Amino acid sequence: MMIQIDTETGVITVDEGGKQSTTSLSSPEGFKLLSDVWLRSGWDLKHVYSFTWMGRPLIQLPEDMIRLAEVIHAVQPDVIIETGVAHGGGLVYYASLCKTMGRGRVIGVDIEIRPHNRKAIEEHPLAEYITLIEADSAAPQTLEQVRSLIEPGQTVMVMLDSCHTKAHVLKELEAYSPLVTEGSYIVAMDGIMSKLSGAPRTEPDWTWNNPCEAVSEFVSEHPEFVEEEPAFAFNEGEITERVTYWPNAFVKRVSS
Ligand SMILES: C[S@@+](CC[C@H](N)C(=O)[O-])C[C@H]1O[C@@H](n2cnc3c(N)ncnc32)[C@H](O)[C@@H]1O
Repeated sequence: MMIQIDTETGVITVDEGGKQSTTSLSSPEGFKLLSDVWLRSGWDLKHVYSFTWMGRPLIQLPEDMIRLAEVIHAVQPDVIIETGVAHGGGLVYYASLCKTMGRGRVIGVDIEIRPHNRKAIEEHPLAEYITLIEADSAAPQTLEQVRSLIEPGQTVMVMLDSCHTKAHVLKELEAYSPLVTEGSYIVAMDGIMSKLSGAPRTEPDWTWNNPCEAVSEFVSEHPEFVEEEPAFAFNEGEITERVTYWPNAFVKRVSS
């Protein structure tokens, strides 16, 4: 695909195998085209590896985290579970929301929590909100441990950001979805993998071996869950789609 941007006339021209289409730069469609190119360029340059939250590296796109905060605020969870902790930026972000909302705490599961990351998380001012579990997120014993930290009737929300293969995310969806309460979500992150064909640090099988495929299979077998974009909490603009690393990520429990 070839894209030509003309800022003087305000149009973006796309050429796909000789077939041309022209879109206004000031339209949602033009914005989407630019956003997709921006996301790919950002992937190549490791843009998401440049943010922190309250002192801890947070490997996420800021827009994704703001959208997620909108959902967390709407759901008001008592427990937020994150698989895939890395430096702990995600855990600290959720913990800061819990403190501000006056509600909730965080459980982080990672197969390897490096000693310097553990130390920084355990010494963080928000550490009292965070419980760390070092284990394979999809192992049955890990689930037992997580379950033992949740009290009956608590509202639970889950973020899946560990190993992003289809098989692992599917295992996580099966394992953690019973904990997710009605109206809450399990979020399968990093589905952008499916759109990165030929990019650096990718594998050819990412076109199918990705979290979106796991979500699609999971919801087709679990009618109590739907894949559903949460509506923006506020929107006086014309953009209605997230600019995201997490397409098709939000899996909502709609019945018990
Ligand atoms: C992308 S990083 C997580 C980033 C983090 N959520 C954040 O917001 O900054 C992925 C993490 O998943 C962990 N991981 C990989 N496979 C795992 C597994 N089977 N179980 C648990 N954690 C795993 C890795 O050790 C790594 O720390």
